[in-house]
Amino acid sequence: MTSGSVTADGRSRVLADGNEIPLLALGVWQVPDGRECEDAVRWALEAGYRHVDTAQAYGNEPSVGRALRDSGVPREDIFITTKFHPGRSDPEAEAQRSLQRLGVESVDLYIIHWPQGGPTWAWDGMQRAHERGYARSIGISNFSAAEVESVFAVADMPPVVNQVQFSPFEFRRGLLAECERRGVALEAYSPLGTGRHLDDREVARIAERLGRTPAQVLIRWSLQRGLIVLPKSAHRERIEQNAQVFDFQLSDEDMAALDGLDQTGGTDSALERPWW
Ligand SMILES: NC(=O)c1ccc[n+]([C@@H]2O[C@H](COP(=O)([O-])OP(=O)(O)OC[C@H]3O[C@@H](n4cnc5c(N)ncnc54)[C@H](OP(=O)(O)O)[C@@H]3O)[C@@H](O)[C@H]2O)c1
Repeated sequence: MTSGSVTADGRSRVLADGNEIPLLALGVWQVPDGRECEDAVRWALEAGYRHVDTAQAYGNEPSVGRALRDSGVPREDIFITTKFHPGRSDPEAEAQRSLQRLGVESVDLYIIHWPQGGPTWAWDGMQRAHERGYARSIGISNFSAAEVESVFAVADMPPVVNQVQFSPFEFRRGLLAECERRGVALEAYSPLGTGRHLDDREVARIAERLGRTPAQVLIRWSLQRGLIVLPKSAHRERIEQNAQVFDFQLSDEDMAALDGLDQTGGTDSALERPWW
């Protein structure tokens, strides 16, 4: 299986380092540590998700770890992503702390959460976390095309993913093209616009015609663009609904109509307004 290709079941793809990543993940940003987060992860695993996206900054790694252990699903069947908080100084030491909180021996993917302090300073520590076996794959998040280039210029082991805000409304074609050119898989975060895009009339029109929900249409758009997609919900029925996206197709016309919703002008930036 070559890098970039989708696996036979259509649910995973192969990263540039050879590791396989499930295309659909549960995101747990803004899900409080404790019962709410444990429930969300448990429901997701029961609904067939095999990929959970957390971060040091989310404060809920302990609940994610507990839910994974309690599920009885073998560790090797679940893909766990966490993110280095770039307000801290040592990605390797912070990776060890994440592993303790998660209660696992390694994560599947460890990414720099955002390029605070510049795009390159943390990469050496990320590579060390990989060398030590704390993370099977390493990557970046919220990096523009120019920042991706800067990391490649210093990397012995280049990043294999860039996790960015991406949806039909944030269709960052320039950034996607640069990532694809370099063999960096793009992960679409906030695929529902943190809920904002669910009320859009065009999305609702397509959803209604197909007998699907707006969330399913938006998630499906990301999948058909070849992306890894990370919807978040803390409600069981929505978590289940968001996973029912492998049994229908958006037509070329519907994809084009959704593409037309872009408000970024096809940018190669990761964000219009950085928060750091
Ligand atoms: N790397 C980064 O800097 C970064 C930044 C932002 C996000 N992320 C990742 O991306 C994930 C997703 O992004 P996001 O949290 O911004 O939000 P999102 O997935 O775009 O949208 C989540 C919102 O939509 C609602 N929702 C979900 N499914 C729904 C459905 N089927 N019907 C109706 N409403 C639904 C959720 O409500 P309920 O929860 O109440 O159901 C929540 O309010 C995050 O959790 C995180 O893992 C990463």
